[in-house]
Amino acid sequence: MSKILFATSEAHPLIKTGGLADVAGALPIALQNLGCDIRIVLPAYGDILKQYKSLKTVAEFYLSGTAGKIGVRAVQLNRSKVKILLVDYPAAFARKGNPYVDEYGEPWPDNAERFALFCKVIQLIAIDRAGLGWKPDLIHCNDWQSALVPALLNQTPGAPPSLFTIHNLAYQGLFPQSTFNTLGLPSTLWTPHALEFHGQLSFIKGGLVFADRINTVSVQYAKEIQTPALGYGLEGLLQHRRHALSGIVNGIDDIAWNPQTDKLISQNYTSTTLSKKKVNKLALQKLYKLPANKDALLLGFIGRLVEQKGIDLIIELLKSIKQLPIQICLLGTGDKIYQQALSHIAKQNPEQISFNLGYSEKLAHQIEAGADIFLMPSRFEPCGLNQLYSLRYGTVPIVHNVGGLADTVIDTTPETIKNNTATGFVFNQPTVKALHQSIHRALEIYGEPKTWKKLVKTGMKSEFTWDKSAKDYLHLYQKILKEQNIKQYNSYQNYQFNERTGH
Ligand code: ADP
Ligand code: GLC
Repeated sequence: MSKILFATSEAHPLIKTGGLADVAGALPIALQNLGCDIRIVLPAYGDILKQYKSLKTVAEFYLSGTAGKIGVRAVQLNRSKVKILLVDYPAAFARKGNPYVDEYGEPWPDNAERFALFCKVIQLIAIDRAGLGWKPDLIHCNDWQSALVPALLNQTPGAPPSLFTIHNLAYQGLFPQSTFNTLGLPSTLWTPHALEFHGQLSFIKGGLVFADRINTVSVQYAKEIQTPALGYGLEGLLQHRRHALSGIVNGIDDIAWNPQTDKLISQNYTSTTLSKKKVNKLALQKLYKLPANKDALLLGFIGRLVEQKGIDLIIELLKSIKQLPIQICLLGTGDKIYQQALSHIAKQNPEQISFNLGYSEKLAHQIEAGADIFLMPSRFEPCGLNQLYSLRYGTVPIVHNVGGLADTVIDTTPETIKNNTATGFVFNQPTVKALHQSIHRALEIYGEPKTWKKLVKTGMKSEFTWDKSAKDYLHLYQKILKEQNIKQYNSYQNYQFNERTGH
């Protein structure tokens, strides 16, 4: 049974800003069901400490360069035996609010120090020096916040190998060189072959250069990041590592996201009781103060209001929908400029547009259940989870042909309707015109109830549970462990040869 340490900066339901939390809250459980002895390691943020008042301290130690003791506290992940190790260092993590940004949306000024500390603690756990009495066989790191770990392990004798998962290459953890000088990292890491990136410290390069293998959260995104368009200047490095790079599409937590049992929605339903979905539509219109109109095509959007998500395209689109029989309800937080634009446009057209500024798990479920269409015109999307939730809830996704969206949604054409594979509407260019055209295509099919129902049902039957993807991760772990054994064997042979020959 492989012992895996899963390092992440968020995990649902403890702390969540986006899809990484969904993955970290579900994949480890699926891996445990496959026989892994898996533990999650996560910072003990203030919001987590508030939720779990009486946490057990399972280890305490000092770390050179850090004042005071660091604690490791333990909690069980919902509905499972997966243990979460919380790195408790109040000066770095116990503050209230978002893990990465302050109340004004600005990155916490000490993010480099906070996540470097997190990585150093993981390094200690990896070699069983944190006092936990447990040594993982492999460390699975996720995104820049844990990306220094592979670099540190590379410098640590007896350290286990690592996998680095890129959930989003746009976030790299870039800091000035002066910050590198204060972090107490080995000075040999300051080179373009390690953490230096055009004169800056790049956390993510720690994972990209040093992890034994790398994966992204869809096959298509693994290809896209090897191109200048989506490689952010790291495409050369990723091409160089292409033999160690693969794609595994995310799954969904099919207990949390199940229209048949979802407690957060007004009316449960299945693909055979689809007429009940209408109850959720009416409830959503009421909640969003839109006219109760069961015939209007109701569009939904949930997400971070950032350029990645193509929210600017939606805003442009909404300026010219007066003539169309559609309504839209939006939920999100993010860049001020988009928040203001959406509030403004919703005020101008309250009959058709309603916007909820904020983060609400409950509303997200209600939108998935109540909308007819889910909009996801992302400029890039490593995987995307909302289109998967939408498919499961019979809410037809309209998506840009990119990343995980391209891998998971099948466009509606006369042929895909005929062979029962169509699940959504896919457009090729991230333009308002293309988005408009997709909505017209959707309206056309919505006007043919039989075909619409077929589309909805095919989507609901799509299989995106974690079972298959967790098996792919397990194979990847096994491959890394096998490669590590071969490496160790070879270096032992070399050692013996050198001993014999006196080299
Ligand atoms: P990303 O990780 O890039 O934000 P994903 O589609 O992978 O995109 O995952 C986003 C997750 O965060 C989904 O579970 C989505 O429902 C949730 N989410 C995003 N914004 C909000 C919000 N304002 N309220 C509730 N849930 C949200
Ligand atoms: C990232 C990506 C998103 C992906 C999520 C979980 O935040 O933007 O596409 O689904 O990570 O892997």
